Amino acid sequence: MQDSPADPVSGAITMIGRLIFTLMLAGAASSASAAEGDPAAGKAVFQRTCENCHAAVIGVNKVGPSLWNVVGRKPAAVPDFAYSDAMKANKEAWTPTALEAYLADPRGDVHGVKMFFKGLPNPADRANVIAYLQTLK
Ligand code: HEC
Repeated sequence: MQDSPADPVSGAITMIGRLIFTLMLAGAASSASAAEGDPAAGKAVFQRTCENCHAAVIGVNKVGPSLWNVVGRKPAAVPDFAYSDAMKANKEAWTPTALEAYLADPRGDVHGVKMFFKGLPNPADRANVIAYLQTLK
């Protein structure tokens, strides 16, 4: 299909349509890359920054609860862990999106949370660690 130079209005509309389509593609590509981290790199982040407080295996609580199978589950669901009231009041399941917000700023996301951790400022670290958490099943 050719844009007709004799009809500048439809030519402009076609151009705007292409621009919107390109922006949509760019948006889809960037959100996909934010969601898809690298589990191997995430394991290294976990060992460096989370493992002091969290075990990756079922039934082992440290300063923080076990993170085995945490992706998709309700917050404050490990039975024998003494969560803060703020975490117990948090009803949003730990989807990758919720984890992403929480790990960016743990104490700002769920107000009053007792995870004394400043968070992961680097988005790639967050995506990778979330990808690793998804393997804990
Ligand atoms: C200094 C210790 C500490 C560090 C470091 C830490 N956490 Fe936590 N984490 C906690 C504590 C304590 C809680 C319970 C919070 C509450 O009850 O308010 C918690 C809660 C959580 C929860 C909610 C669990 C549930 O069962 O609802 C997730 C998810 C989590 N942490 C992920 C991480 C990840 C991923 C890292 C590393 C990037 C990390 N944490 C680093 C101490 C820590």
